[in-house]
Amino acid sequence: MVAAHGPRRLSPSAQSIEAASNGVLSQWLGSSGFRGDAGRTVVLNDIPGCRARRVLVVGCGKSRTVSEADYRRATRAAMNALGSAGARRACCYLDEVAVANRSRYWATRQSVETALESVYRFERCKSDAKRPATRLKVLSFPADEDPEAVPAALEDGAAIAQGVRLAKDLGNLPGNICTPSFLADEARQLAARHDAVETTVRDEAELERLGMGSLLSVARGSREPACLIEMQYRGAPRSQAPTVLVGKGVTFDSGGISIKPAGAMDEMKFDMCGAASAFGAVEAVASLGLPMNLIALAPATENLPGGSATKPGDIVTSMSGQTIEVLNTDAEGRLILCDALTFASRFKPEAVIDIATLTGACVIALGAHASGLFSNDPELAQDLLGAGEFAGDRAWAMPLWPEYAEALESNFADVANVGGREAGAVTAAAFLARFAGAFRWAHLDVAGTAWRSGKQKGATGRPVRLLVQYLLDRCEDSRSKPAA
Ligand code: BES
Ligand code: MN
Ligand code: ZN
Repeated sequence: MVAAHGPRRLSPSAQSIEAASNGVLSQWLGSSGFRGDAGRTVVLNDIPGCRARRVLVVGCGKSRTVSEADYRRATRAAMNALGSAGARRACCYLDEVAVANRSRYWATRQSVETALESVYRFERCKSDAKRPATRLKVLSFPADEDPEAVPAALEDGAAIAQGVRLAKDLGNLPGNICTPSFLADEARQLAARHDAVETTVRDEAELERLGMGSLLSVARGSREPACLIEMQYRGAPRSQAPTVLVGKGVTFDSGGISIKPAGAMDEMKFDMCGAASAFGAVEAVASLGLPMNLIALAPATENLPGGSATKPGDIVTSMSGQTIEVLNTDAEGRLILCDALTFASRFKPEAVIDIATLTGACVIALGAHASGLFSNDPELAQDLLGAGEFAGDRAWAMPLWPEYAEALESNFADVANVGGREAGAVTAAAFLARFAGAFRWAHLDVAGTAWRSGKQKGATGRPVRLLVQYLLDRCEDSRSKPAA
């Protein structure tokens, strides 16, 4: 696989094939109609003087400085072309091109992630195990050009892709399989795969003892018991404050008594994608053995309208002591996260980042392109935005001014669980902020980014890339991540 910007605008590797073939490469490229457009691919067979039997030429845009979007488009197209060509082995030289403001490390890692992502299929629930998505067995990246950056990019990219894959698998599983206790088992298995990870699962009796009345109130309408999953990754001395991830783990959200309309309700099996992304981040960080401490918390429950379900108007007491008037049982994410946030303070964290498919309003505000970011700490917000930018998993900062919290005033309890229709993503975040006073905190609303609807329905694995990038950046001192 070599890059080109036009039949005569060749990348270094394409240039060497051009020289070895006495100009045959550009001639054949020209007659195939290749103009260098990003994502255009041409397979050339038996080029004279070239040892590879087949050469896949990949358009990266006409300019020699390639935009990030064009580079991604090109690598995705290249992987598709490899698939249709039925290739078993390939060597990737695409990362030779100069991507605007990005390093070789970045380009190689993008290629690795895209390659591994492109072969992902979810077929665990299909009875006819179809033939594999790809015949590709080996994809190699020549490291001689940059013996520092390329191996680091391969290692990081493969670990991130592994985390993304775990998050997608968990997200795609149906609600009847992926229950709270299933997630707990997955967390135990994750710990079994990595020596540095330990999993603790707290059951309803323990949650009761801890005073997590808010989390438990969501579970009341379901026969599946709720739990709080805790995974601890130890990569640094105990004295180093951990980063805590808190992932929303609603394995199915019917809305409860405030039941949702039937259309697309199946997609509420994805309501545990926040938890899945925390699992994915732990998987990646543990595979890399990053020198840091990381804790993932996942409050896990179903939200169903059973006979003992919480009703609109019910008042529950959270672990923090604050009482909450549940005006809408469909605003359940914040009810489980608030107790997990209170619990998180016991770890004296460096920062707490919660990840949740929290509001339909966030989907309206930002669509599928960016996760909504809310924070009580401008520096943490900047770090997360930068990480998302670098990792191609963007977030966008939303306001969290005190004015928004006024919508949550209750006549009967300390706070109501919903505001009005206006600024729904912000009032949800403002609710969470009341429970995150004691530490640096950020909230990622991934309702629009964690899965796709329609024909391509499925979990995206977002925001695993953003999270792992934030964690990689935190280790920069002890681990040499080549800068952009
Ligand atoms: N899980 C949903 C949020 C959601 C809805 C994500 C649609 C993706 C698509 C969440 O639990 C929810 O139901 N939120 C309500 C809040 C409302 C009752 C204040 C919503 O967004 O409608
Ligand atoms: Mn809901
Ligand atoms: Zn929900």
